[in-house]
Amino acid sequence: MEKKIKKIAVLTSGGDAPGMNAAIRAVVRTCAFYNIECYGIYRGYQGLIENDLKLFTARSVKNIIQKGGTTLRSARSEEFRTKEGRQKAFENLQKHKIDGLIVIGGDGSFTGASIFNKEFNIPVIGIPGTIDNDIYGTSHAIGYDTALNTAMEAIDKIRDTASSHNRLFFVEVMGRDAGFIALNVGVGAGAEEILIPEEDLGLDRLLESLERSRNSGKTSSIVVVAEGDHSSKNIYELADYVKEHMPQYDVRVSVLGHMQRGGAPSCFDRVLASRLGVKAVELMLDNQSMLMVGLKDDKVTTTNLEDAIKGKSTINEELLRVSDIITV
Ligand code: F6P
Repeated sequence: MEKKIKKIAVLTSGGDAPGMNAAIRAVVRTCAFYNIECYGIYRGYQGLIENDLKLFTARSVKNIIQKGGTTLRSARSEEFRTKEGRQKAFENLQKHKIDGLIVIGGDGSFTGASIFNKEFNIPVIGIPGTIDNDIYGTSHAIGYDTALNTAMEAIDKIRDTASSHNRLFFVEVMGRDAGFIALNVGVGAGAEEILIPEEDLGLDRLLESLERSRNSGKTSSIVVVAEGDHSSKNIYELADYVKEHMPQYDVRVSVLGHMQRGGAPSCFDRVLASRLGVKAVELMLDNQSMLMVGLKDDKVTTTNLEDAIKGKSTINEELLRVSDIITV
């Protein structure tokens, strides 16, 4: 007979993402609904190592659904990468008789959870939260939709200057290894070109495309570049290269940076976080472990955590084609 889960703990780890609070709230409230105890762990795995945790009630998570960031705070813990660190973390779980851990974060956080599970046999469930959306097994990670809208609105503003001054803007959006934000925001904001790590456009084709835009009567242009794009060392070098080959362009660079991680979560992210939070707790109560909850075709689904870590989420090729067509 599997042991019945009586106490769950939840933490947020890695980069914060809008909607993480809504997920924490859903986890805590689902525990309250099923009459089990729920601990909130502060500062991710580092807080667990340092015993920085508190028993939460349904009321502990009031008034946070609309807030960006994570009220549990987050960290990228180096100590948790060590066996000694994980041992301390496990002892703290034991101290509080916690028998299940819900981890809200990205693939790095899930890797930590998976190792922890294998070493100490502690049940773990992952909830995907990262603006990069580079997680296999879900169409959307919490925070991605909000980040898309934040970045798109910023580019709309940049466009005002681009068209007022006949300029070519290179705008860098986040996505350490992935082009999901760049591709979608590029289409949504009407960018002339979109540079992403998944597709190597090449500098020659970029120049040709900009030349074509100019010849077709466009007086200003926006190129959206994913942070992880490999076209050149960085966006400034890329802009310099284009300036050198196309001196007729007045070129500017804008790096959107961490503004994309902040702000109030969109309705989509709040709803997604609520659905995934409820499901995560219910899986745990059903004695499930090593799963990630996610969304597929608007249905809440589960993926083996190892697959979620190892799998590669692929970009939507159709969007690339759409972008090529409508930027004619
Ligand atoms: O993974 C999310 C992300 O925002 C990436 O897009 C970015 O490269 C990275 O985190 C930045 O991390 P930090 O906040 O530690 O600088």
